[in-house]
Amino acid sequence: MANRIDPKKILVVHGPNLNMLGIREPETYGHTTLADIDAQLKKLGHQWGLDVETFQSNHEGAIVDTLQHAHGEISGLIINPAAFTHTSIAVRDALLTLAVPIIEVHISNIHRREAFRHRSFVADIATGQIIGLGVNGYYLALRAMVDLAGAVKPD
Ligand code: DQA
Repeated sequence: MANRIDPKKILVVHGPNLNMLGIREPETYGHTTLADIDAQLKKLGHQWGLDVETFQSNHEGAIVDTLQHAHGEISGLIINPAAFTHTSIAVRDALLTLAVPIIEVHISNIHRREAFRHRSFVADIATGQIIGLGVNGYYLALRAMVDLAGAVKPD
């Protein structure tokens, strides 16, 4: 009941090139567009008592800004940092300021791909990861947030 009055806010952040889903390497990422994913996340969020906001950027600084603005405003974060997963200490540091559950999502199984994709600067600070299950990973992450959101992030 409380959820209906004050739904928990979940932020979903998509990193660079994920705006090209549907066109980009469909053999790896499938045919679903980012707009489809975001619409489905909002629909599921509505059903599950979560208020879902989505954000995509190709710019590292814009993602850092968004994570900073989310501080104190959200109950959970789902992030696919895309290529910044493997490169960005700035995104990692911004995530470290958020004291809410964080789920790292990758559409593809990064461990079955090139060696440079095997390292994630997010993995050890995320509450959990969902990797290699296609775009379903986003929906599974949101379902997990039903139980996790608002919890204090475990050390
Ligand atoms: C990705 C995997 C990354 O290695 C890649 O740079 C992406 C997408 C995924 O969702 O599978 O852009 O994060």
